[in-house]
Amino acid sequence: MLERIAGSDIFHNVCNAIQDAVCILDRNLTVIQANLTMEKWFRKEKPLVGQKCYMAVKGQSGPCPDCPCDKALKLESPQAGIFKKHDAKGRSRWYEVHAFPLFDKDGSLIAVVNHIRDATLRIEAERQQLEATAKIAKAEKLSSLVALTAGITHELSQPLNAIKVLTDSILFWFRRGRIPEPEEIKAKLQDVSNQVDRADQIIKHVRSLIRHEQPSELITLCNLNEVVNKAANLVASQLRAHGITVQKDLSAQLPPIKGDEIRLQEAVINLLVNAMQSLDEIESADKKIGLKTRFYEGNIVLEISDNGVGLADEVVDNLFEPFITTKLSRGGMGLGLSYVYSIVRAHGAHIAGRNNDNGGATFQLRFQPLTDLKGGKVR
Ligand SMILES: Nc1ncnc2c1ncn2[C@@H]1O[C@H](COP(=O)(O)OP(=O)(O)OP(=O)(O)O)[C@@H](O)[C@H]1O
Ligand SMILES: [Mg+2]
Repeated sequence: MLERIAGSDIFHNVCNAIQDAVCILDRNLTVIQANLTMEKWFRKEKPLVGQKCYMAVKGQSGPCPDCPCDKALKLESPQAGIFKKHDAKGRSRWYEVHAFPLFDKDGSLIAVVNHIRDATLRIEAERQQLEATAKIAKAEKLSSLVALTAGITHELSQPLNAIKVLTDSILFWFRRGRIPEPEEIKAKLQDVSNQVDRADQIIKHVRSLIRHEQPSELITLCNLNEVVNKAANLVASQLRAHGITVQKDLSAQLPPIKGDEIRLQEAVINLLVNAMQSLDEIESADKKIGLKTRFYEGNIVLEISDNGVGLADEVVDNLFEPFITTKLSRGGMGLGLSYVYSIVRAHGAHIAGRNNDNGGATFQLRFQPLTDLKGGKVR
């Protein structure tokens, strides 16, 4: 039967029409039929037919380890594999091999059909894809490092500036020959100490980011009103100097939240500074920042609004993405809001920014309270 198949013209023509290499091996791995492609790819001096395939293709004295044809003969089931070979010009080529056992009409195994496809292009493409993915991963790591460094610089510059302003103001008194009251010095030193705490928290936060930890543990019970008051106090003199009035409307009935007070203050300060910078852009005798808290529909809501220039069209849709800024020429890095966003999300809260109907912008933060108004646990 095997001879009949191998000698058949139709079979011969069909096999030659196939652009991949096809051959039939007997039970001893001797080539009894090979199509033109098989001869083209693997023939050396002698024709393949009549040779042991391992000798003809690889110049070996025994079957290749893991040879799919050898396995298909032993296991009497189809097998597949891939092997690498150098072509006549010494270039590496990859071949995908499929071996199908051939049975006679009584079900006895008589041969194996070997189909070999040149997979060099596919494997090269996959290798290039892998290399490209690795390069992108490396670049992303590098750019996140750049973003992180920029973020640290940005965040640390705020407490450092505040410390500079506070200490300079003490020195100013002395230079003017005015000896400040101990209480005044104590108050300024307390502010300096708070700013150092802030810088310390930022460094801790960055350390935790580097260690891929969760953001700092949110273990303190905070009152959002206190957070707002403390943050507003820290920038109060700056706001005054910019001719801005702060209007507070803080709900007396605010359930506590679980949060990191220092980081929440940082978020509020960032929003206040943005509001101040927006007000710097307008000429007005009535520059206002509103700070409003309320308990609304089960959420604790903080709104920071201003009557400044409002959100520009080019930033309004992606405010919280890093490096989105309209202040490039003024040294803005577009990192403040992305930092605020990460703090707010770390608290399981939400933030949104929108333009007011009558000018300016409002940022709304919504927190889940720890208890309801009556002190009952809500989570
Ligand atoms: N209160 C606001 N009013 C108008 N535009 C705002 C306000 N807050 C933010 N924006 C806009 O959103 C942009 C992004 O703000 P973000 O705080 O992220 O960066 P930045 O203030 O430009 O720079 P950085 O905070 O890094 O110094 C700002 O450049 C500004 O265009
Ligand atoms: Mg900003």
